[in-house]
Amino acid sequence: MMAKRTDLEEPSRRVPTWSRRDFLAVTAGAGLVGIAACGKPKTVNPVQQIAEGFANGETTVVPAATLEPLNGADGSVVVPAAGTAPSLVVSRRDGKVQAFLNLCTHAACPLVAGSDGTIRCHQDCGHGSVYSAEGEVVRGPSLRPLFRLQSSSEDGGALKVKLKIANG
Ligand code: FES
Repeated sequence: MMAKRTDLEEPSRRVPTWSRRDFLAVTAGAGLVGIAACGKPKTVNPVQQIAEGFANGETTVVPAATLEPLNGADGSVVVPAAGTAPSLVVSRRDGKVQAFLNLCTHAACPLVAGSDGTIRCHQDCGHGSVYSAEGEVVRGPSLRPLFRLQSSSEDGGALKVKLKIANG
């Protein structure tokens, strides 16, 4: 009787096979690196690393003119980068203004202001995550809220933003 062909038999779908020796060598090496680093294995999230690279603790001020679209209305605006500062997204919901890194937490694509008050991953990325004005995930694939920054309103309507992740 002829054996049934499976997907795993096609070269393009073949799963690499490891010998027992290869497997033990790699897992032992990874274990030693983890133990040497801090005593237990640590998972590194590359998007978190990018965010932490932007969040250098410096303070930036978003001018009132940039925030004009939010005067008296809920929604969000994208704030272009000035100097060495990262670009931001500032949103307003029920009078509460918040600033976020302009970085989708799924795979670090830029964000855009949605016309419905949401914050959306840029369409060129093709993944489609959507966040609320509070930075919470409304639709995935993203699983993590936006990187919120410490911010406070200034006299004259400007927003002072400290580049420090407040929900990290
Ligand atoms: S990078 Fe934003 S949804 Fe994938």
